Amino acid sequence: MTNVTVIGMQWGDEGKGKIVDCLSERADIVARFQGGHNAGHTLVIDGVTYKLSLLPSGVVRPGKVGVIGAGVALDPYALFDEIKRVSAQNLAITPENLKIADNACLILSVHGELDRMREAAAGNGKIGTTGRGIGPVYEDKAGRRAVRVADLSDPEGLRLRLERLLTHHNALRVGFGAEPVAVETLEAELAEVTPKLLPFVTSVPAFLSAAEKNGRKILFEGAQGVFLDADHGTFPFVTSSNTVSAQAAIGCGVGTKSVGFVLGILKAYATRVGSGPFPTELHDETGVTLGERGHEFGTVTGRARRCGRFDAVMARQAALTGGVDGIALTKLDVLDVFDTLKICVAYELDGKRIDYLPASSRDQDRVTPIYEELDGWGVSTAGVSKREDLPENALRYIRRIEELTERPVTLISTSPKREDTILLRDPWEN
Ligand code: GDP
Ligand code: IMO
Ligand code: MG
Repeated sequence: MTNVTVIGMQWGDEGKGKIVDCLSERADIVARFQGGHNAGHTLVIDGVTYKLSLLPSGVVRPGKVGVIGAGVALDPYALFDEIKRVSAQNLAITPENLKIADNACLILSVHGELDRMREAAAGNGKIGTTGRGIGPVYEDKAGRRAVRVADLSDPEGLRLRLERLLTHHNALRVGFGAEPVAVETLEAELAEVTPKLLPFVTSVPAFLSAAEKNGRKILFEGAQGVFLDADHGTFPFVTSSNTVSAQAAIGCGVGTKSVGFVLGILKAYATRVGSGPFPTELHDETGVTLGERGHEFGTVTGRARRCGRFDAVMARQAALTGGVDGIALTKLDVLDVFDTLKICVAYELDGKRIDYLPASSRDQDRVTPIYEELDGWGVSTAGVSKREDLPENALRYIRRIEELTERPVTLISTSPKREDTILLRDPWEN
């Protein structure tokens, strides 16, 4: 296998950005295959923090090429804001090191507006989206009315596409009491970004297959996590794309064999942003401590992340659905201060013990976790970069996760920094 695919195994924010950054040293290309600027990936390199949303995490390394595949929901305004932001951190983003799929769907201003109007109207039933227009644009793709990158180079065709899109959006806007939007308004918005975007546009399947033929290595960078997957997640409290590894092939237009080794990123405890079931959520001191020690505030929206105990039932399910070959366990250091650690090994539902997360959201809300207790380690693991320097009880915690998920832990992360990483098995050598 030559390629590596990184996915989140929980509800996002597992530390994918950091791990992709570590692994990209050996990659030639880093490709995003789903999601959009709802993602927030944090990298800490030589004391400098980079926060990336749409740009593949490989852009911080000179000589690597970033790819944005067809499966990504692309907000061109957000893209250029981000390029401007990282340029101020001395990262040069050029058509040589960033390729954008000609068949990616565009997030326009109406998508973000619809997302936010819906959430405001939903009151307590809201999903807690990032308000970035992700749901509405994926709906427009499935509804075959989305505007795609390739439409930008054909003004006449673009007008027809926009008219069709607005027939749908204006009906919804009127329903929400908002003003309808004129085609000319969207045309003017797009006219501003089109000349800047076109130089980056490429046929991604052609680019990637040529690269593979030349022996170049691709690192596919997932956003969100398995339980935010539109099919396999905690529906309807999910994002609107597929986040599992199979999506790497679909979202970049390569065959499934190109997915390669699947590294699932798993946080040593659990967090979630937004609404929805969370069986092991904590509302006590332990939860507060996890949030404080883990700095659990959303990169994109700044919202406090909900915190809870490690859920091995969900991790095992994510390993199966996500096609995970090995696990990268992150934020182990956050657990350093606890005397004991509880792992959820099964649930109780209606008096019965079950070992899977039921599909119904109402049942997901009703399951009671069954915990197993392990001893903590009481010493700092922050910054540990060798396996032999980890305390025995931390190794025991990791072994138990391996047993319960039936997957090997092949990488351990002990701080936000690139170098504080223990590589047990090289995913490029599989
Ligand atoms: P992503 O969305 O999966 O890329 O994760 P985020 O970047 O949104 O959130 C992960 C946060 O944890 C970031 O602030 C990282 O810098 C930080 N982080 C990553 N790995 C570790 C780790 O092993 N220990 C600690 N303490 N923080 C980490
Ligand atoms: P990364 O890549 C955590 C959550 C939102 C909300 C739900 C739907 O940084 O792990 P959306 O705007 O996608 O329609 O919101 O999904 N969500 C994330 N949570 N990390 C993310 O990305 C997320 N992207 C979306 O909070 O609950
Ligand atoms: Mg994040």
